[in-house]
Amino acid sequence: SLLNHYYCKKFIMGTSRLKSHNCFSTSITKQHKNSKQESTHETKIIKRRDQACRSLLIQVHSSNSYKDLYNYCLQFGDISSMHHHINDQQNYILVEFTNIVSIKKIMSSASFTKEDFTPVKSSILWFRKGQIRLQKSNQKKVSLFVENNMLPNEEKRTNLLNDAKSISGQIIILYEMMKLTDLEIRLRFHTAHHLEQYFSRLFENIKVLPFGSSINGFGRKMCDLDLVLDNITSRLVFHSKFNNNSKRYETKDFLGILADTMQYFIPGILNVRKILHAQVPIIKFCYNYTQTECDLSATNMTAIYMTELLNLYGEMDWRVRPLVIAIRAWAKSQKLTCDSPGHWITNFPLTLLVLFFLQQKKILPSLQLLKLYSTHDDVRYTENGVDCTFLRDINKLPADYKYKINQDSLETLLYDFFEYYSTFDFQTYGICIREGVQIRKPSRSALHITNPLETTLNVSKNVNVCELNRIISKMHDAIYMLETNEFGSNNWGIISLLKANNDNENLKKSNTTKGQTKNIEECSEDSYKNSYEISDKFEVSVEANI
Ligand code: GTP
Ligand code: MG
Repeated sequence: SLLNHYYCKKFIMGTSRLKSHNCFSTSITKQHKNSKQESTHETKIIKRRDQACRSLLIQVHSSNSYKDLYNYCLQFGDISSMHHHINDQQNYILVEFTNIVSIKKIMSSASFTKEDFTPVKSSILWFRKGQIRLQKSNQKKVSLFVENNMLPNEEKRTNLLNDAKSISGQIIILYEMMKLTDLEIRLRFHTAHHLEQYFSRLFENIKVLPFGSSINGFGRKMCDLDLVLDNITSRLVFHSKFNNNSKRYETKDFLGILADTMQYFIPGILNVRKILHAQVPIIKFCYNYTQTECDLSATNMTAIYMTELLNLYGEMDWRVRPLVIAIRAWAKSQKLTCDSPGHWITNFPLTLLVLFFLQQKKILPSLQLLKLYSTHDDVRYTENGVDCTFLRDINKLPADYKYKINQDSLETLLYDFFEYYSTFDFQTYGICIREGVQIRKPSRSALHITNPLETTLNVSKNVNVCELNRIISKMHDAIYMLETNEFGSNNWGIISLLKANNDNENLKKSNTTKGQTKNIEECSEDSYKNSYEISDKFEVSVEANI
């Protein structure tokens, strides 16, 4: 038969106890078809999830297999797109079919690699070439998308930035270089879909939703993938050995068992770590097909709405995302942010600093204003009753915000950002996106950034005085470098800001920071020594909210 000659094999693993379930239940809702709603965050997520349901990640020998695979797949239905993806020297093609029926057909025709495993069908397959019979089809030819998803090394980055005509141009180039590509977003939704396929065999209607920088437009290539389990209310309840049968223990038990299941039964999941004692318990793991670090949490809907809010701010003005990405890149190269947890700032509060600054520049509105203009359709509450209602359709904003008076260039905004915070009175005031104005600090934390959706919480409570001073000092350095490295010199514009380990030399040069330098360096070392013995940054930042 056809299958004996050329067939797709599924990566297999699973358990015979798993119940069969139609994992393709996610369909495009009526809302999706409503063109008025086309551009909202929620409809984009629905589209991306639908796209993931219609896609298969197929391992091939090389990109030359594209034509054979294309011909082979045509027998199952029309194809919308094909994307080449290389991971760890293995070649894959992400095939998007036009209709979900094709996926069902291909799934029932594919076979398994070994008989000793209990088969569970996943949307990751591999293609072995056999005799290919050309398919008759009226569909338009689909070409293979080939994208470079690697971050350029420092030398290449510097060369590209050197070609720019201005600092604003450099920021745009950096943004284009670092932002997530369409393929990466597809793969991130595909990863969520892959997990959902497995989990849904245990728990009906469960959803795995991506959130955080992967989808709010502030993510950079290779950033972590934050995932949340939704709809676990209809799940089986585990017998718990705890007397205290609180929701938190239930979630901990649930995630603990899920972590073991993932480790043993889901292909592509490596290095599973359970971090269950945190305020928001999570499972960390590496997804091998894309080499992505993932954090999976349960019923964390505030984070989903926070992502939506950040995405909305990113959509409001074309300057927001390039500026945020540039400042995140600067903070990373100056080691102000770090992958491990501690007393330092993380990307999320840093992003809130940028958004607050843009509110001061009258480029972005306060959350209060977005709440004021919200409609009946915008009402959202989390399972814990947190009010996440705000205007989702930015076209309904008042004219002031549609036709902005502030037309500052990215260069000016970058410079002003450093100037604004390097002279900000952090001792007295806190940052509040909700109000859009600085507030008297309600806590004794060194840095107070109000959680926009839960205003009693400080998202930067973990940041200590030494780290705050280091941030301010690096901002003074940045101003100095932007002023002194003239256009055309080796280090002009943001090139100098992105160079790591240049602090000693520049700190000595900078007069503005002279008084602080020694103090900062001493403190900094100390704070590293005393950093939390916790293995997750999310844990620290969330604990910071307590
Ligand atoms: P990178 O992963 O560093 O690119 O940025 P990110 O924005 O995805 O940040 P992170 O992975 O640390 O967190 C993911 C999401 O969780 C954020 O976008 C926030 O919505 C939420 N989050 C992170 N830290 C906090 C915190 O301290 N408090 C609250 N309430 N939410 C947080
Ligand atoms: Mg993240």
